[in-house]
Amino acid sequence: MGTIIATDRDGEVHRLAARQGLTLMEILRDGGLPIEAICGGQCICSTCHVYVDEPWAGQLEPRAADEQVMVEDTGSYQDNSRLACQVPYEEALDGLSLTLAPEY
Ligand code: FES
Repeated sequence: MGTIIATDRDGEVHRLAARQGLTLMEILRDGGLPIEAICGGQCICSTCHVYVDEPWAGQLEPRAADEQVMVEDTGSYQDNSRLACQVPYEEALDGLSLTLAPEY
């Protein structure tokens, strides 16, 4: 088990239990954060858009082409944008922090 630190759209900080085998989207959703994830992790809705803080953002696998296209189309794209459903949690990410992007 590990922890990720998520800031919601009101600026409230949440410490969420994280475990390998889940994506960041599943950890956020299971932690009760208001992340719609309406496609269920299929990389087709962009409603799981988050901003991953450094140094964590630079440690993640690069975005796949489909994630890149989808996240750039949100209208709130930043260099540290990720679709949370496309990022698997692993122990090396213990302590990762992120912020929910504006609703899509
Ligand atoms: S849950 Fe739909 S793109 Fe991530």
